[in-house]
Amino acid sequence: MTDQYAVIGNPIVQSKSPFIHATYAQVTGQDLQYTALLGPEGQFAATVDAFRKAGGKGMNVTAPFKLDAYAYANEWSEGAKLAGAVNALKFEGDRVIAQNFDGVGLVRDVVHNLQCPLLGKRVLVLGAGGATRGALLPFLAEKPALLVIANRTASKAIELAAIGAAHGVVRGCGYEDLAGQQFDVVFNATSASLRAELPSVSVAVFAPGALAYELAYGKGLTPFLQLARAAGVTHLADGVGMLAEQAAEAFEWWRGVRPDTRAVIEKLTVPLV
Ligand code: ATR
Repeated sequence: MTDQYAVIGNPIVQSKSPFIHATYAQVTGQDLQYTALLGPEGQFAATVDAFRKAGGKGMNVTAPFKLDAYAYANEWSEGAKLAGAVNALKFEGDRVIAQNFDGVGLVRDVVHNLQCPLLGKRVLVLGAGGATRGALLPFLAEKPALLVIANRTASKAIELAAIGAAHGVVRGCGYEDLAGQQFDVVFNATSASLRAELPSVSVAVFAPGALAYELAYGKGLTPFLQLARAAGVTHLADGVGMLAEQAAEAFEWWRGVRPDTRAVIEKLTVPLV
C-alpha cells in the first residue's frame, strides 16, 4: 500500500505542503500520498488517531495545532522540547515522535540557499515568540559572533536569551536598547507582518551589506523589508526557502532521502515588490 502522509491545520486550504511533498516524492521517486486534513477544533487527537488507524505514517502540523501535537506525542526531539511546539510527527506503532524543523529549515535556507554563513556574524532577531524559540538552537549552532533577540516585550526576549546562554553568545532586549548597534543579518520573526505592521526598529540596525530576512512567506515587500530597503539593504529574502527546507527536513526524516528544494522554491517564490 502507498504510504500516507498529511498536513493538519485549521484552516488548511492555504497550505503549500501537499504541493511541496508531492513534488519531493516525484523528484526522489518515492511512492507516497500526501493530503491536507482539516482538523475540527478541539478534535486534534481524534483526527490523528483516525489517520494512524488508516495506516498514516507521518504528519506535518500547522496552526492552531502545534501545541496539541506536542501534547499528543510521546517522544520529542531537543528542538521540539525547546520550542514547546511541533511541526512534524512520525508514527511507528505506539511511538509518536515529534520534531520541529522550522528553525533548522530557516538556517539551512540562509546558509546554503542564500549563501550567507552565520559563523562569526552579528545576528539580530526581531520577536521572541514561537518562531524565534524554534530557531534559537539552530542559530546558535552556527556560532554567530553575537545573537541579539529584540522584542516589544523585552522580558520575553531576555527569558529566551537565558535559555540559549548555554549554547552561545546571546542577549535579549527591547527595541530601544538596539541604539548604536549594527548587524550583518536581521530576521523579522514577529507576527507583525501578518497584519502589515512594523516592529519599532531603527533603520540604523542594518550593517553595510546586511541580509534582511522576513520569516513570513508570500507577503511581498512587507513593512520590515521596506524598512530594510530604505536603509539601503539590497539582500532581501522572505520565508519561501524556509518553507521548502523545513519540508525537506521532514521528508528526509520520514523517507531517508533528501529532496532537492530548488524547483519548489522557484515555483513558490512571490516577487518582493
Ligand atoms: P509566532 O508563533 O508566530 O512567533 P507568537 O508566539 O504569538 O507568534 O509571537 C509573536 C511575536 O511577534 C512576539 O514576539 C510579539 O511581540 P510581544 O511578545 O511583545 O507580543 C511580536 N509582535 C506581534 N505583533 C507585533 C507588532 N505589531 N510590533 C512588534 N512586535 C509584534
